[in-house]
Amino acid sequence: MNYWIQLSIEYANQRSYLDDLFRVYPTIPEGIRDIDSGLWKEIEKAFENHNNTALLENLLQLDLFPIKDSYVAYLKRDRESLKRNPATVARLGGRLYEMGLDEIYSRSSEPKETNRQIGPLFKRWLKKKSLGIEPMKLEDFLNTKGKCNFGSKRCRNDITRIKCNPKNFNRKAYGNVKDLILFYSKSESPTWNDPITPFTEEDIARLFKKIDKDGRKYTTIPLHAPGETVSGRTGQEWQGMKPPKGRHWRSEPEVLEQLDEQGLIEWSATGVPRKKIFADEKEGKKMQDIWEFKDSQYPSYPTEKNLNLLKFIIKASSNEGDLVLDCFCGSGTTLIAAQELNRKWIGIDKSEQAIKVAKKRLSEIPSSLFSRLDYEMLVQK
Ligand SMILES: C[S@@+](CC[C@H](N)C(=O)[O-])C[C@H]1O[C@@H](n2cnc3c(N)ncnc32)[C@H](O)[C@@H]1O
Repeated sequence: MNYWIQLSIEYANQRSYLDDLFRVYPTIPEGIRDIDSGLWKEIEKAFENHNNTALLENLLQLDLFPIKDSYVAYLKRDRESLKRNPATVARLGGRLYEMGLDEIYSRSSEPKETNRQIGPLFKRWLKKKSLGIEPMKLEDFLNTKGKCNFGSKRCRNDITRIKCNPKNFNRKAYGNVKDLILFYSKSESPTWNDPITPFTEEDIARLFKKIDKDGRKYTTIPLHAPGETVSGRTGQEWQGMKPPKGRHWRSEPEVLEQLDEQGLIEWSATGVPRKKIFADEKEGKKMQDIWEFKDSQYPSYPTEKNLNLLKFIIKASSNEGDLVLDCFCGSGTTLIAAQELNRKWIGIDKSEQAIKVAKKRLSEIPSSLFSRLDYEMLVQK
């Protein structure tokens, strides 16, 4: 069975399901439907004058027609049909006169069934993105299982973080050394300072296999890129050769000439030119979605996180002077990271112990010319 359906069934089998439902969807079982006073006057007038057509015309404008009759939906859809069907109008009119005005009012103003109240509520909430995500197609939803994709453009990554050294649990399961970090952004174009991580020795050995006469490690990449330039200069001949079919030179001929003069182009034995890329000129590589930031083995708070992890996240997604919020700040790792990176911050926690530890850790940050600790403490009793 689909994971979400299974969860819903398990939940619906709990004893307090209906009470919970009522708390989540605050419908109004006792509330009555409003009836427009102007419209009600017209109904009264038609009733007094025994004007069947006018009576039905006005009653059909109400949310709830006072008689349950299989023809009503048709009449509602096609109001002209009242003129074409005098017998039906007379039959319904007869039942209405029998019922009397008070009963007509009471039946037409009956509260909406809970289901009918919930429907529009849902639509309103979804439109407002109250759930923090955009509505998604049913089949996409059914294909998720707690994964961070929810069809939302705001969900950018689910990141695996290695949080500790391998453990030897005495249980029939694999050791758990990872956390899952879900990376969402509020806007479609969030602040993004693309984090680069330095190459490891293995990276360098794998990616930069060649060594030049000065002992510098390098690799080569093609001098051309996909896409043909028909009339542009990067589609023309350079050193007597055109770029291969369907491709163009990466730079204009004079730039290629300059690179060649500087010894930055390597020519193969068969005369194919490639650009040299040196390891010592590259800052590093793009950060991927498996991270290793282990938490302290001797934390000052049970769930204290690695400071460098928080610094890394804050640096990537904010700039100096920006505001960082951690509404479950615990021992304040996020706040310390934000403070040290010259961001403004707000931390919230319900635990007195957490606040005590956070304050102590904040007070231990050495102040510098550029970063001075200055914060206000608000307590809700
Ligand atoms: C996982 S810890 C945060 C740890 C933090 N990142 C650190 O480095 O220490 C979660 C914190 O959320 C707090 N918390 C849980 N529910 C809360 C609530 N409803 N309002 C405020 N704080 C809450 C807990 O007291 C706890 O300190």
